[in-house]
Amino acid sequence: MQSFEQLSQQFTLRFDQRHFPSEPASLYAPNEYFLRIGGKRVRPVLCLMGNELFDEIKSDTWEMATAIELFHNFTLIHDDIMDKAPLRRGKETVPQKYGVNTAILAGDVMLIAAYELMNNVSLTVIRQVQNLFNATAKEVCEGQQIDMDFETQENVSFEEYLKMIELKTSVLLAASLKMGAILGGAGERNQNLVYEFGKKLGLAFQVQDDYLDAFGDPGKFGKQVGGDILSNKKTFLLIHALEAVSAAQKKELKKLMQENPADKVSRVLQIFRDSKVDEWAIQLKNKYLDEAFTHLDDIAVLSNRKGPLKELALFLIKREQ
Ligand code: IPE
Ligand code: IPE
Ligand code: MG
Ligand code: MG
Ligand code: MG
Repeated sequence: MQSFEQLSQQFTLRFDQRHFPSEPASLYAPNEYFLRIGGKRVRPVLCLMGNELFDEIKSDTWEMATAIELFHNFTLIHDDIMDKAPLRRGKETVPQKYGVNTAILAGDVMLIAAYELMNNVSLTVIRQVQNLFNATAKEVCEGQQIDMDFETQENVSFEEYLKMIELKTSVLLAASLKMGAILGGAGERNQNLVYEFGKKLGLAFQVQDDYLDAFGDPGKFGKQVGGDILSNKKTFLLIHALEAVSAAQKKELKKLMQENPADKVSRVLQIFRDSKVDEWAIQLKNKYLDEAFTHLDDIAVLSNRKGPLKELALFLIKREQ
């Protein structure tokens, strides 16, 4: 059994090498740049942990973990186009540095590289793993489209928001764990429990992501603070504020979203603060984490095998970047 830190280190050691040819550099250098500027590598580590919950880590799992991280990086490159994001991992995003057209292609070829790696998985399990991967990838696209649709939709309920973040974020964390579990030989019941654990963990993870987007420390966060506010993203902060603040503040919030004044971010942040969003965020994260841990508890393996996953879950909801 390896700790979160040991698995992260091992994965990073394997992952930090060239993934693309040198030519044409105008296409591949952006991808190499993006893969080298950091990233927490959470999903591949979840895949490794999903395997190690049940058995020693297989070579198939290393391939899958790498494929998953490439897929995730593809989604981020395209997400930064959609969100017009200037900054990620403390550095310029791919579209910002190399232009939108190159970012589209760089993302496309990153996705294809992920599929190539998956081809190395043993024939006995490849179909099962690939089906899950494909279903998940489609869900991520659905979630990303709904996230954009919500930018121009005035009223979004908390339930609609939850469905959206489940699709854009949770299912990939859940599938990473489940693919690891499948490759580690887990039975169907345990596979499903690990998936449900990942889904709830993903909700807590996205709540923290939304929180940091508004209140993160710019020196640590690595992304543009206030980006979600600028694009009128329907985050849990906004949905909560619309419910919790006075009628006058609610009116002001809606006006700020329509008129986009120069001081929009600071004024929206003040309204968020007035809604006591801090306390709400902690409550919400703990609720999803508790639900996640219930599923983890139900998994039929010795409880000391679950330690690294607990450690990773706690890290994710407290992270500052
Ligand atoms: C960012 O994911 C995208 C979301 C689902 C919120 P991460 O926070 O895992 O990004 P990196 O890979 O560590 O940069
Ligand atoms: C992105 O959600 C989720 C995916 C990339 C699929 P966000 O747009 O909130 O992610 P960040 O904040 O840019 O990392
Ligand atoms: Mg986005
Ligand atoms: Mg984004
Ligand atoms: Mg975000």
